[in-house]
Amino acid sequence: MRAFPEGFVWGAATAAHQVEGGNSSSDCWALEHANPSVFAEPSGDAIDQYGRYADDLAILAALGLNAYRFSIEWARVEPEEGVISMAALDHYKRLIEACWTRGLEPSATLHHFTTPRWMARQGGWTSPKIADAFARYCGVVAEHVGDDLASAATINEINIPALVRRSRMLPDFSEAHRKAAREALGAEPEVFFMFAGTEGYAERAIDAHRKAREAIDAASPDLAVGMTISIQEEVSEDDDNARAALKERRAAIYDPFYDAAQDDDFVGVQTYTRMMTFRDGRTGRPKGAEKTAMGYEYRPQALAAACRDAAAKTGVPILITESGYSGADARRCHFIQGALEGVHKAIADGVDIRGYYYWSAFDNFEWMSGYGQKFGIIAVDRTTQKRLVKPSAALLGAIATANALDVEEGETVVLSETGAPVGTG
Ligand code: BGC
Repeated sequence: MRAFPEGFVWGAATAAHQVEGGNSSSDCWALEHANPSVFAEPSGDAIDQYGRYADDLAILAALGLNAYRFSIEWARVEPEEGVISMAALDHYKRLIEACWTRGLEPSATLHHFTTPRWMARQGGWTSPKIADAFARYCGVVAEHVGDDLASAATINEINIPALVRRSRMLPDFSEAHRKAAREALGAEPEVFFMFAGTEGYAERAIDAHRKAREAIDAASPDLAVGMTISIQEEVSEDDDNARAALKERRAAIYDPFYDAAQDDDFVGVQTYTRMMTFRDGRTGRPKGAEKTAMGYEYRPQALAAACRDAAAKTGVPILITESGYSGADARRCHFIQGALEGVHKAIADGVDIRGYYYWSAFDNFEWMSGYGQKFGIIAVDRTTQKRLVKPSAALLGAIATANALDVEEGETVVLSETGAPVGTG
């Protein structure tokens, strides 16, 4: 048996906008309903986790996991500037209590891509005002639930806006898209987090992270706080130009965030693939590589490479806050197994990795791609909202229960009519 350290965190992750449903005070909702929109479809009811969280947590616990990563939605907690919804804060308090009751340690992210419309209309993540506004909201949340959490991340994938800009992954906004965004949201589409990597982004975002951490520390001094970073395995062609381009890429999308993370309690590592920098400066999949449904290279080994890089550059403990695969479930099982073998080896080599959250607990709203991409270990029929546990969920649950690799095939959780677990079979 290849065992993991005692107390290793085994979880699955989601984000509010992708699972809760009805997040209508957020900028993302407005952009989904712009016409034309760069979103394939609107999020709508998502998987109604706002209403169904208790049953969902029961499934995760029945699988054998011991942790859940979710996000708290700023647009619900502060739907208008300075107007705090106690009902929303109470909802998250109940969700957190429900985690502990079921043996799942709760890890909350304070910002996972979506921002209240009122803030978006003031420039969102392109505005220097974001730091104070975000920190104020984080302080309010920490006062209410900070002491009940196991860990908190301020900003999810703080570097993604820089990466999206640099990799030319920004949607091609036509004049019609811009006009529709102005009508639906009252702002240019760039105010939305993922698109906000304009001049000065890294400074703005790091300022927001630091102020948010201070506000959380003041309200809940013992809570472990960090940020999460999108970190892929980065390689280059064997060529001087390619190596120089990769160095420049690292300086733009990793280095400032790694530096800032040195002051934190942990760093959240989020890895999906390997990126190759070519001699012409472009980045992409290595030639001939197997593709996932997202079009990424299928590369479970990328996770350990990213953890080793993050550990060397930040010197703080690592929580793997996301690692996931979109596509057929048999391949997902292979992906989870392969990724964890690398993590196990990295830990044996002395890398301080404290936990692993698979992305995602459930098939959910995959941003601009809509519901077509399936990252979940649990499927959801969005007409009936019934949950269906996939074999990969049983596998991850068995690994978590044994706290080790080389497990027997996991037991399948049997669900009732409502989707709640009734036993194992
Ligand atoms: C994000 C998730 C997203 C996942 C899969 C990560 O970048 O944090 O919200 O669903 O990747 O694309």
